[in-house]
Amino acid sequence: MTASHRAPRSAGSSRSSAILITGAGGEVGHGLIRALWDGGARDIVAIDIRELDPDIRALCSKTFVGDICDAMLLGRLLAMYEVYEIFHLAALLSTRSEFTPETAHEVNVGGTIGLLRLAAEQARSHGKSVKFIFPSSIAAYGVPDLATKARAGRVREEQFVEPTTMYGCNKLYCEHLGRYYAKHYRQLAKDRVADLIDFRCVRFPGLISADTLPSGGTSDYAPEMIHAAAKGESYACFVRADTKIPFLTMPDAIDALLALAHADKERLSRQVYNLSAFSPTAGEIATLVRTHFPSAQITFRPDEQRQAIVDSWPEDVDDSAARRDFGFVQKHDAAAAFRDYLVPAIRARYSR
Ligand code: SER
Repeated sequence: MTASHRAPRSAGSSRSSAILITGAGGEVGHGLIRALWDGGARDIVAIDIRELDPDIRALCSKTFVGDICDAMLLGRLLAMYEVYEIFHLAALLSTRSEFTPETAHEVNVGGTIGLLRLAAEQARSHGKSVKFIFPSSIAAYGVPDLATKARAGRVREEQFVEPTTMYGCNKLYCEHLGRYYAKHYRQLAKDRVADLIDFRCVRFPGLISADTLPSGGTSDYAPEMIHAAAKGESYACFVRADTKIPFLTMPDAIDALLALAHADKERLSRQVYNLSAFSPTAGEIATLVRTHFPSAQITFRPDEQRQAIVDSWPEDVDDSAARRDFGFVQKHDAAAAFRDYLVPAIRARYSR
């Protein structure tokens, strides 16, 4: 079976071809749908648990409000569309997941396996591999203590994969599920078809968007600090000033997802790729915020439990495989992120 980016409608089929996006109303979904539309995609089918914003809905050929764990909904999709590419973005983030770990598991793992199965059925029925693009997370890591974190520096994909959060465990396991479906799915079946799923995954660091705020993550202190300053609100940062993890701006995150999706399969030496752009401490983020918003009121009031989660994430990741294999390059380092992207866009947003 061969991978195909734009799968044409197959002869005699009454089903339309589609790129399926789950969690479409989230932060990544917003940016991704716009970028896909700008790139000419007119067959975007989106699912989210909530009604999408009208401006995003207008860019989709069809939207569904519903739960990705709803087998009937997925079944209806299968009947209506020939899905050739899936961006599976729906998930409960790390902080939220700790309040309802079992629900998080159901959504994050149950939702993913349901979609992998749907993708495999789709591939069988239309005879082409389905690309399955999955954002994993820095939360897949778990460094044991701060001394190890400082010593480890930039960690590779296979180091320290002992996550401490349900979300991190879910993401790490879904990376394995993706590999299983891509390479070993139904390996003992007599009628096995190989290469049904073309699974591709990035581990996102903290993401910072000028347009949206995350909901329920633990890297949220960075975007919250910036948006609060722009709104003229004070902000009490829930981690220490010396807390350090990598970040990426949303436009760079979207470019990376699309570069991975469009890469020649032969060039991809692995299925899971680290991504990172800059690794500021929370104190350095505050300094940048104060440079651009001199009246910003930022204090540090660490929350012990959320601090422990961020402390278990590496201070930087080695993303050389992504740079080599699919040409990942970020537009924004920390200074450029503020100067060229965040500050102008956020100012415009809150002055409206
Ligand atoms: N931003 C996510 C979170 O904080 C990590 O991937 O949960």
